[in-house]
Amino acid sequence: MVTHPSLATTVGSLEFKNPIIAASGTFGYGREYEPSADPRVFGGVALKGTTPKPQAGNPPPRLVETPAGLVNSIGLENPGIAVVIKEKLPQLEDLASAGTRIILNLSADDDNGFVSMAEKCNQASPLDVLELNLSCPNIKAGGMHFGTDPKVVSKITSAVKKATALPIWVKLAPLVTDITVIARSAEDAGADAISLVNTLPALVVDVERQRTVLGNTFGGLSGPAILPFALRQVYMVAQAVKIPVVGMGGISCSDDACAFLLAGASAVQVGTAIFVQPDIAERICDGLSQYLLEKGYEEITDIVGRLAQKD
Ligand SMILES: Cc1cc2nc3c(=O)[nH]c(=O)nc-3n(C[C@H](O)[C@H](O)[C@H](O)COP(=O)(O)O)c2cc1C
Repeated sequence: MVTHPSLATTVGSLEFKNPIIAASGTFGYGREYEPSADPRVFGGVALKGTTPKPQAGNPPPRLVETPAGLVNSIGLENPGIAVVIKEKLPQLEDLASAGTRIILNLSADDDNGFVSMAEKCNQASPLDVLELNLSCPNIKAGGMHFGTDPKVVSKITSAVKKATALPIWVKLAPLVTDITVIARSAEDAGADAISLVNTLPALVVDVERQRTVLGNTFGGLSGPAILPFALRQVYMVAQAVKIPVVGMGGISCSDDACAFLLAGASAVQVGTAIFVQPDIAERICDGLSQYLLEKGYEEITDIVGRLAQKD
């Protein structure tokens, strides 16, 4: 009989003490939720999207709650890579000592920006993974997301791969014609894992004032509304690539996390739900342990990709 199931998982060669990771942009630089939530409970923490230079972000309002979920247009407000390496990462030593993996999410206007940040990260600590946010606009290509063009995804991934020894997770935008083509181009270019999904493009309207609500007009939808779509994209990608997949999109309880693992994700990220339940990692871990006990599995990795077709 199984008494103490293990939640430990691996993403490529990297071990995680549990499969729950805080999603980029929803957990600041790892310390902001203390003391309401202990960041060391997470298997990993993906830090706020960081850019080559400091960015002020978009005009307010930047966050709107709709009946379907949260719409944000933060616009990557961040202090820039130099400050993150010098001031933010060193504050995370105790997380690293507790076995919580540190994932730095990177965004840039062009491929050189990604490469220059990756090079700077070679001297950074503690740091376990570079997550490339390819849902950000490619300024050279007129603002289209990098993640919509397999050639661009390949070019950035291979350039960053040459610039660093750290594992690279390529984070994909969900809304493309065929997500498997984009994921394969990242895999072929040397990505260590694919993480998906980012938010879905959204627009919120104030009917009374006949105005758009967000300061930047458009935003990104996150939360439970996007879960079935995200799950479909994760399942498709997990079938299409050999590298691991890190799934996310609307996870707010252990059954949600379990669904992504069954669909083939080796680990999951939780974003919007942290705003409502800062201690969500603990709850999801408890729920996953309970699930493993009830089903008689010894390890969380036993359920990864176990999803079968309906009989
Ligand atoms: C307020 C906010 C800020 C975000 N900032 C980033 C970011 O800087 N970089 C990034 O790759 N994703 C960012 N995301 C996307 C999340 O990491 C995640 O991919 C998405 O929200 C889906 O997960 P969820 O439904 O659990 O929130 C942000 C999401 C929200 C809600």
